[in-house]
Amino acid sequence: MSDPSLLALRIQEIVQETNDTKSFILDPAQKLDYRAGQFLTLVFRKAGGGEDRRSYSISSSPVLDEPLQITVKRVANGAWSRWLIDSARPGDYLYTIGATGFFVLPEKPAEYRQLVFFAAGSGITPVFSLIKTALHTDAALKLVLVYSNSSPERTIFHDALLALQQQFPDRLRLDFLFSGLRPLRRLNVSIVENIAAQYGRDTLYYLCGPMEYMRTISIVLKTSGIAEHSIRKEIFHIEKPAIKELPPDALPHMVTAVIGGITHRFEVQYPATILQTAKALGIPVPYSCEAGQCGTCSADCLEGNVWMWHNDVLLDEELAAGRVLTCTGYPVGGDVVLKI
Ligand SMILES: Cc1cc2nc3c(=O)[nH]c(=O)nc-3n(C[C@H](O)[C@H](O)[C@H](O)COP(=O)(O)OP(=O)(O)OC[C@H]3O[C@@H](n4cnc5c(N)ncnc54)[C@H](O)[C@@H]3O)c2cc1C
Ligand code: FES
Repeated sequence: MSDPSLLALRIQEIVQETNDTKSFILDPAQKLDYRAGQFLTLVFRKAGGGEDRRSYSISSSPVLDEPLQITVKRVANGAWSRWLIDSARPGDYLYTIGATGFFVLPEKPAEYRQLVFFAAGSGITPVFSLIKTALHTDAALKLVLVYSNSSPERTIFHDALLALQQQFPDRLRLDFLFSGLRPLRRLNVSIVENIAAQYGRDTLYYLCGPMEYMRTISIVLKTSGIAEHSIRKEIFHIEKPAIKELPPDALPHMVTAVIGGITHRFEVQYPATILQTAKALGIPVPYSCEAGQCGTCSADCLEGNVWMWHNDVLLDEELAAGRVLTCTGYPVGGDVVLKI
């Protein structure tokens, strides 16, 4: 792929983690900076022309002497996860727009003394990076992982997590829930309520797993008194809502977008969003899900107002600081200036 905005990643090694999941150890053509919990958006060229984008959380830790790694689960009928698992080989190249994401450790670690992670299946991928990083960077932090799978054999990083627990016995508590072994243990409301009662409000909660799983945990945490801003979620399965709310102002407005020091000016007219307009004009804007769920397209709104038809990723404090999503965003009430 000859697009200069993409970074080439050579697959150095492929590790079979479980029957349907592999880790890919990657050698970037240039240094790639990332934070624990972030993901890479990969760009795949389609045989008939055009491209597809898929995001994969980074399972290595940026603070350990580890090579860059992603971990991919094969999705039945999935276009690119099947290619990665069934066909990709060491020596092949992947291409990325870089690392991004808000599922990261707190900016000020002293705010929280305890982190609780709820993960299911491949949802462990960013969580594994967060846990390794937190254990090695802040000796005062205590961590709990509640991790749901059907059996130990199908549990990604099972042995590596046990090894971490042996290394940090006073700081890492592991609770494996196996739904396919007797006694059957599935995550339920009372497990979440007990955790919320035990660890309370000064704890930061991280959720990554199927949509319904995260929805249930989130509702139970909130009804147990945990504030929305203390719950971080990473959504893997993008659902694009069929019906979109209309913006309060559907008039055309100018957008000035500063991307990597270069200024672009273009008019955005509903129903095209800021991202759709920029893409149509060939402006190199970052994006992945195009549904307000991953954060790859986020920008700082320096002037004016952006209204979003969907936002599953930016927290209230990020919105208050002027962070917006371009994939679901429209300029409203006048022109806007964005720094992307
Ligand atoms: C921020 C983010 C981080 C992610 N991190 C990881 C990761 O670390 N490891 C990983 O394996 N995946 C991860 N994903 C999911 C990944 O991006 C792809 O969606 C997934 O690999 C399926 O892509 P595909 O091309 O194979 O399937 P597609 O061709 O896109 O989809 C085929 C079918 O599978 C369904 N489907 C798509 N994704 C999923 C899913 N995740 N679970 C169940 N059904 C699905 C679709 O609705 C469709 O019916 C992440 C997604 C996001 C947004
Ligand atoms: S591209 Fe995913 S939130 Fe906009």
